Amino acid sequence: MVGSGNKSDNGATAPSPSEDQAPKDGSLMAMGHPSSVDSVTRKLQKGATLENEKRHLFWETQPVGKYQDGVGEGPIEPSQPLSEVRQEPYNLPSTYEWCTCDLTDEQTMREVYTLLTNNYVEDDDNMFRFDYSVAFLRWALNPPGYFPSWHIGVRAKSSKKLVAFITGIPAKIRAHETVVPMAEINFLCVHKKLRSKRLAPVLIKEVTRRVHLEDMWQAAYTAGVVLPTPISTCQYWHRPLNPKKLIDVGFSRLAPRMTMSRTIKLYRLPDEAATPGFRPMERRDVAAVTRLLQTYLAQFQVAPHFSEDDVEYLLLPIDNVINSFVVENSESHEITDFASFYTLPSTIIGNQNYSLLKAAYSYYNVATSTPLLQLMSDVLVMAKQRDYDVFNALDVMQNESFLKELKFGPGDGQLHYYLYNYRLRAPLKPAEMGLVLL
Ligand SMILES: CC(C)(COP(=O)(O)OP(=O)(O)OC[C@H]1O[C@@H](n2cnc3c(N)ncnc32)[C@H](O)[C@@H]1OP(=O)(O)O)[C@@H](O)C(=O)NCCC(=O)NCCS
Repeated sequence: MVGSGNKSDNGATAPSPSEDQAPKDGSLMAMGHPSSVDSVTRKLQKGATLENEKRHLFWETQPVGKYQDGVGEGPIEPSQPLSEVRQEPYNLPSTYEWCTCDLTDEQTMREVYTLLTNNYVEDDDNMFRFDYSVAFLRWALNPPGYFPSWHIGVRAKSSKKLVAFITGIPAKIRAHETVVPMAEINFLCVHKKLRSKRLAPVLIKEVTRRVHLEDMWQAAYTAGVVLPTPISTCQYWHRPLNPKKLIDVGFSRLAPRMTMSRTIKLYRLPDEAATPGFRPMERRDVAAVTRLLQTYLAQFQVAPHFSEDDVEYLLLPIDNVINSFVVENSESHEITDFASFYTLPSTIIGNQNYSLLKAAYSYYNVATSTPLLQLMSDVLVMAKQRDYDVFNALDVMQNESFLKELKFGPGDGQLHYYLYNYRLRAPLKPAEMGLVLL
């Protein structure tokens, strides 16, 4: 089991690791969605080859092909005339029916929340489960130009209970030089009692059909599982803000030769941000933040193409959903830097003392005058002030430049990025990836 740090091994007489460095031995493990040291070992034992050789009876029928020498970048299959797109929904087992979930309706939103909260992503040891809030789901799923028909549910015909879900939202994503209108697919979930019945492929085909009906032919998505064919494989890193709670709930464990009090001291943060002019983003910053993001994201191989409307919707702070900060120069009033994180708590399954792990996830950050390390240190201070337990970040964009120094520890959770019906010339290194999906 994870996290059972044996305190008797951590006596004060033991040689101490340097106090200004995060322990290097995996004393923090984590959530990719969260996962544990035990599962890392299992994965290593299983070996990567088995994963690669696994047959994918559904995915092998989809335009998600492998990299091929001499084959250019772009759509794998051409788009079709809309008249050729299948008009009727795919068949479900006879006791289930499709529904379109109206996420502006409180009651429906509650049903979606309940399905996800009880059945969505868990770590390999079933200790934590994502608990996206209602406010977060409303924000994430109703962006400018969203299609209500892409919020797809499956209900039991007799009870009308919601038992499965999948969503898409429209986005413009640039792959190298080409900006492609895509669907970002997310929140694929099948009720625990209906697993392994091949319902997921039907949900994926149905959302694909409804995306095609809007004349869109490409999609982006991420998953913790390996499917054909990742465009990039990234890793989660975790920065404890409340190390005692993380250890108590088994998210982290005490490093060998570390005491709890030394661990708490190691991760202590200043009370206030260090950068002059650092403040929460406001509506008047939208144009400047859009310019910063557009310039910054241009250097990555795959990245979103944000308009001012997107930035206004996605990045203006909403309590317990999205936090964004800017640095405003005190003389010129120019906005020079930007940083943001979103809020995604997890249910702590079966713990007597705690029921929720409050996690912040790094979103988009742009440093032009403040060093990125200092900007992110200030962001950690903001997250700590707001009572988050842990700050998570992928090794995408320039994040590697601050992770170790700011005492993030590597998690065992990997996140694979995928494109549907779009081939890249070659897979991307995490530092070439400029996209963060919620
Ligand atoms: C993911 C989930 C919907 C899959 O449903 P399931 O009942 O386990 O699997 P099914 O029998 O319906 O379908 C299996 C097929 O779905 C594919 N699949 C499984 N997880 C997938 C994912 N996250 N994304 C895309 N395809 C996935 C499998 O690879 C398999 O296809 P293959 O034979 O081509 O490999 C279900 O396990 C679930 O709700 N898990 C918790 C939430 C979750 O992990 N969601 C995905 C977040 S990325």
